[in-house]
Amino acid sequence: MRLYVAYIKRVLPGETARSMPLDLNDNYTNSALRVGDVDRDPQRPVGEFIGNVVSNAWVNDEYKHLVLKVHERALKAYAGQMFHLLCPSPDGAEVWMRRPMSIYRVDQAAGVVEFLYKCEGRGTRGMGTLQPGDEFNIAGPLGAGFKLQPSWKNIVVLGRGVGLATLAPLSQLAAAQGVGVTAILSARHEGVVMSKDLFEGLGARTITVLDSDGTSAVENVERILEELIAAGKADAFFTCGSNRLLKLMQRLGKKHNIPGQVAMEQIMVCGFGACYVCVRTFEVDGKRVLKRVCRDGPVFNMQEAVGW
Ligand SMILES: Cc1cc2nc3c(=O)[nH]c(=O)nc-3n(C[C@H](O)[C@H](O)[C@H](O)COP(=O)(O)OP(=O)(O)OC[C@H]3O[C@@H](n4cnc5c(N)ncnc54)[C@H](O)[C@@H]3O)c2cc1C
Ligand code: FES
Repeated sequence: MRLYVAYIKRVLPGETARSMPLDLNDNYTNSALRVGDVDRDPQRPVGEFIGNVVSNAWVNDEYKHLVLKVHERALKAYAGQMFHLLCPSPDGAEVWMRRPMSIYRVDQAAGVVEFLYKCEGRGTRGMGTLQPGDEFNIAGPLGAGFKLQPSWKNIVVLGRGVGLATLAPLSQLAAAQGVGVTAILSARHEGVVMSKDLFEGLGARTITVLDSDGTSAVENVERILEELIAAGKADAFFTCGSNRLLKLMQRLGKKHNIPGQVAMEQIMVCGFGACYVCVRTFEVDGKRVLKRVCRDGPVFNMQEAVGW
């Protein structure tokens, strides 16, 4: 597909396609904005950007943290939204399609967006090869992210694994609106607990629960949540990354009438609502409906999510 795009875009008026050379490394369309480019369409919320890698360092054995200098329009991204990333190849062969990735942090002053990602398959392993100074093509910001209601004074964030990367920017959003955050960080072991520094740096209280010492068991997390509710620290619930934690928050949310939001993951192709590859089932007013995770979400009303 990328070859095809490279082929098409090189056909200028008056030239035949046959005369155009193909550049196998040419990943980009010519509409993508680079840092400092004049924005001819500043009202558009979404764009394609060619950022410059500032750093791309390991945070533990499995996850890397990418800091990308981007055009100012990309800085409009907010918590829970995602970008669709054109990952480089880890092995020289084609990497088909972009990869969806939540925004981890936006630093307006430094002009950077950040991603925290697990190096898993070919796309994210290719992303892991990016070096400072490299260019990286991202499209977005896409989707509907988290929203905080003015009446909420204290929220509880509960995430696991890579879900913590998606939830982390909630700490930025909450800090900006003077909302208190308790973040319960669930992980297999201490070595893969993520986003703790980001949450704490913005004034959140964190509670770590681990598989390795049994504290991540649903019964224990339920006890912690009940204590927070009793202490008036849970005006709303937020979760991502675990079906059993989603179910727990749904149950307690229903019991105590606490609203909530969940960030969902689904395999995507277009990322902007056209292909319907990412549909999932939701339950709205007792009826089962299909929604596109990329366009209608990825953040949804917690009580409407059917889980997986
Ligand atoms: C809204 C959203 C936000 C995400 N945020 C993050 C994040 O902040 N950090 C992070 O590490 N990961 C995140 N993911 C998961 C990330 O998209 C996948 O890990 C990534 O696409 C895997 O690509 P790969 O080539 O490394 O793996 P492969 O397994 O080789 O991928 C093969 C195909 O499956 C798709 N795929 C595989 N796993 C997932 C998945 N979990 N979700 C969606 N598509 C998948 C890929 O996009 C690709 O098309 C997010 C996913 C979604 C939908
Ligand atoms: S990925 Fe195409 S509609 Fe969601």
